[in-house]
Amino acid sequence: MTAPGRTARVTVVPLSLPMRRRQLIVIAVVAALGWSVARALPPPAAPTLQGLAAARGLRWGSAVTNDQLRDPGLRRLVSEQSGLIVPESELKWDGVEAAPGRFDFSAPDRLLAFARAQGLAMRGHTLVWHEQLPAWVKALPPAELDRAMATYIRTVVGHYRGQLPSWDVVNEPIADDGTGLRRSLWLERLGPDYIARALTRAHQADPQAALVINEYGLEGDDAKTARKRQAFLTLLRQLRQSGVPLNAVGLQAHLYANGSGPTTFRTLPAFLRELAALDLDILVTELDVNDRELPAAIPERDRAVAAVYGAFLAAVLPEPRLKLITTWGLSDRTTWLNAFMPRADGLPQRPLPFDEDNRPKAATATIQAALEKR
Ligand code: G3I
Repeated sequence: MTAPGRTARVTVVPLSLPMRRRQLIVIAVVAALGWSVARALPPPAAPTLQGLAAARGLRWGSAVTNDQLRDPGLRRLVSEQSGLIVPESELKWDGVEAAPGRFDFSAPDRLLAFARAQGLAMRGHTLVWHEQLPAWVKALPPAELDRAMATYIRTVVGHYRGQLPSWDVVNEPIADDGTGLRRSLWLERLGPDYIARALTRAHQADPQAALVINEYGLEGDDAKTARKRQAFLTLLRQLRQSGVPLNAVGLQAHLYANGSGPTTFRTLPAFLRELAALDLDILVTELDVNDRELPAAIPERDRAVAAVYGAFLAAVLPEPRLKLITTWGLSDRTTWLNAFMPRADGLPQRPLPFDEDNRPKAATATIQAALEKR
């Protein structure tokens, strides 16, 4: 194949030459061509996160928004490194049904179109949550709230029926102090059965979609995490005993590269085994590493963040029921943390695998090495 703008050079080997000499010339010409072709080819691409994950039976994903994807560099990075995307905000109730019965799927549909065009999957996040609810939902009395939930799940999951491999059906149902279920408007108005109702309705709307309960604060070795894990296991066992449709658990895995959050995960493998014993798959759904308490120097910050990625992945990658790892953003430029948990010195956080210019960091190499070991 001649490169565009290049003319092909044709070498004619005279038949009058002895056979052996003709062979030697042909071999020399082919070798020269091969060398020039190899020289023209781009260097073999570095392994991608999705490629390394897929080779080990995992999917690698990242959260994105339509706004973020206006940046061509990020579009390229997400398409190259992720095998799946999840809408960071576009599939939440306040944007999808801002007014009763008025559904607007334009924003999540744009993300799904991007995913399809790039050959990526997209998963659903999230249906029943105590955040990002429209004011009209928050004002509903119990019976109408239950009907609104039923309509919302039937309409939204039905709209994407057969297109999304999994849904975070219920998000963050456990109380932070591990005393049981979070005292959200869902629990207070509908009772603990709201979780089973949400899962059953999602299953009716799309029997093929894997149904997930997504939670944070389950990763570390501290006493508070242990309490929250037990409260979560109690809920999961009740749902299992009642035969409620549920396929997986989402560990959000918002981690911390300092003392104010989990940085060791010695007890995590045993917890994952308890989830697997309930016949549940495990998804890491919102992985990032908060560096807000670390000193400003970037090399030290990046090394500390990479070390937490490494320790966490060493704890979860051996688990056979682990199916997906999704980071909450892919480039530091898009992290939610600068808006929600800014550093005191005002410097941008560096919690993700790629930096603000989409370049790999220490964390990228650590993640690649961890995946290669699986
Ligand atoms: O879209 C509006 C925009 O029109 C408006 O001008 C702007 C200013 O008010 O707000 C925009 O909406 C924001 C939305 O993100 C989209 O950017 C909301 O205010 C803001 O609250 C929302 O924050 C998101 C947050 O969830 C609440 O939904 C974060 O980006 C997102 O990273 C965060 O993600 C959550 C997961 O869904 C659940 N697990 C925890 C995780 C972190 O909190």
